Amino acid sequence: MIRFWEAKRLIEARFPSLWHARLRLSPWRARLRRKKASEKLTGFLEKHSYIPNIPAQRAIPPPDLIATTSLMWPEDISTKAIPDVYLAGGLFEALAVMEAAELANIPLSSLGSVFELGCGTARVLRHLSVLNHSKLVGSDLRRETVEWCRSNLPDIEFHQNDLEPPLKFAEDNQFDAAYAYSVFTHIPLCLQDKWIAEISRILKPKALFCCTVIGDHHASIMLDLASLERLRDKGHVELGYQSPMASYSTKITESWDVFQTEAEVRKAFSTCFDIVEYRKSNRALDLLIMRNKG
Ligand SMILES: C[S@@+](CC[C@H](N)C(=O)[O-])C[C@H]1O[C@@H](n2cnc3c(N)ncnc32)[C@H](O)[C@@H]1O
Repeated sequence: MIRFWEAKRLIEARFPSLWHARLRLSPWRARLRRKKASEKLTGFLEKHSYIPNIPAQRAIPPPDLIATTSLMWPEDISTKAIPDVYLAGGLFEALAVMEAAELANIPLSSLGSVFELGCGTARVLRHLSVLNHSKLVGSDLRRETVEWCRSNLPDIEFHQNDLEPPLKFAEDNQFDAAYAYSVFTHIPLCLQDKWIAEISRILKPKALFCCTVIGDHHASIMLDLASLERLRDKGHVELGYQSPMASYSTKITESWDVFQTEAEVRKAFSTCFDIVEYRKSNRALDLLIMRNKG
């Protein structure tokens, strides 16, 4: 029997305008969401008696640059590539990194250096500059996003890396924490193990690593029924940018969308990491919170 949520997702997948209507926040609701995100982050830091660095107002990337990093459908430009939504999303996800540290029993004061793989326009990393004692480093495949970040966020270090490891700028055991939001969801499966080993190499032993993966929720929105069946049978499905089901960002950047079952994700990441939690979401991507074995 199809459950309520599954039926709802199937309907949204068949009629994407319903999905966009759900995402389209009026300007005041978007402002409210950003305010709520900011208050939640402040509340979290207060709970940890952490005195944050309050960064000055930062530049917002132009919509066409945002489009290369986080849009599922072209219509998302009008719903997501606007300042309040962009900032609210980044704030919530920066908070998720800090909450992951809390869950993994890692004090904020021990995060002396934090690395983001696939930082895009530093949507998330910019907010981690509240951690006044942390050196922040971001890296991305795409030259245009790295150049934009370097020009607009001079207090953060940015590098461009290749599709395949290594991260030439990073030493062994360099970072206290790393995260990769919506990045392993775009790395082709033939390179996944290499990237998992590379992140493990640059992290200190027991350091925090969080990353998102496309869980059941997004898979059911993006894939047709035959592909969902293939995902269940094989444990993974990879879409190239020419696939009609590929996300908009993937199409315009000629990348990949990678879908894996929870079992396959756990198997792949547990070669180098102890998994603290696999957090399923029925709104966004699933989040994997880990500690380096190394
Ligand atoms: C969906 S975007 C997410 C950007 C950012 N993490 C965020 O949450 O706003 C995916 C990003 O990963 C980058 N990317 C994909 N494969 C990569 C790789 N092998 N190395 C570094 N960056 C990669 C893309 O260029 C893109 O900026």
